[in-house]
Amino acid sequence: MTRRSVVAGVGSALPRRLVTNEELAKTVDTTDEWIVERTGIRNRYIASDGETTGTLATDAARRALEHAGIDARAIDIIVLATATPDQTFPSTATKVQAALGIDDCIAFDVHAVCTGFLYALTVADSMLRSGNARTALVIGAETFSRILDWEDRATCVLFGDGAGALVLRAEETENGILATKLHADGRHNDLLFVDGGPSTTGTVGKLRMKGREVFRHAVVNLAGVLNEVLSEAGLTAEDVDWVVPHQANARILDATAKKLGLPPEKVVVTVDRHANTSAASVPLAFDTAVKDGRIKRGDVVVLEAMGGGFTWGAAALRY
Ligand code: COA
Repeated sequence: MTRRSVVAGVGSALPRRLVTNEELAKTVDTTDEWIVERTGIRNRYIASDGETTGTLATDAARRALEHAGIDARAIDIIVLATATPDQTFPSTATKVQAALGIDDCIAFDVHAVCTGFLYALTVADSMLRSGNARTALVIGAETFSRILDWEDRATCVLFGDGAGALVLRAEETENGILATKLHADGRHNDLLFVDGGPSTTGTVGKLRMKGREVFRHAVVNLAGVLNEVLSEAGLTAEDVDWVVPHQANARILDATAKKLGLPPEKVVVTVDRHANTSAASVPLAFDTAVKDGRIKRGDVVVLEAMGGGFTWGAAALRY
């Protein structure tokens, strides 16, 4: 037996307001046909007044704790992945901590854009395996709607808001997180970025993207890191029950699965209902597939994501 991080519970949260492609086409020069054909997206959820990254994260965390049957006060560490924090500081993780009524624990945000959840999971897993913590709350939460340029049809149709959370427990087991692998290559900073920030413009800024080039890098990087993480976990593609990918674009999901020889029915797809929710997308999709009964205890699940930086990463676990 080895000390490993076991997924004790999962949860997610979405804003109240659902926005369809048709609704978007009333204010943006686009069509439902174009969005569905190029991306697979049909709906997204957009935060209303009073809904923030922190409130969505807190709701997702509460549901994950409830699913795990664990009291919030048992949490030793909160790692929250976001590129859209409530404030520049303090961290959104500390806001979640306060909202959950936890008096003392480690709490901080991780910023790796759409790969943020994989980075957060890897950090939490390391803390648990090293014995520095026993129970972790790992959250991906975003309100990208607040950094979109709603006049840029090439980007604003692609993203949505939401949050997902996992409760991890350190146990002596052969299950849990088997391997993780992370990468970054900052030479591609200019392909996907926000054109503002506290230390440059003093503003929040808007998302900018060269979509075609991001697409090209995504398929190559994701197939590569999936192969790496499987090999590190001593698994082959045939051992995988479910792939839970970052939900950026249905065509990227198809192309990546094909490159690895994975049948499309093993890939959890939620991009049609949630669009791209950045760091929230992997735990949101994971929770969806656990709660609808697809992912079962004992299944081998592989998570992967790629985002601005570029950053990319993957994790293999036995649920
Ligand atoms: N509605 C209608 N037309 C649109 C549109 C929209 N929402 N957005 C762009 N177009 C138009 C463009 O203006 C362009 O028109 P033109 O040929 O007259 O100039 C045409 O569609 C093709 O644009 P292009 O950007 O080349 O399309 P594409 O096939 O590359 O698809 C993306 C665009 C964004 C869907 C695609 O590149 C993509 O998914 N990239 C990856 C993005 C991603 O996943 N990013 C997040 C990673 S974390």
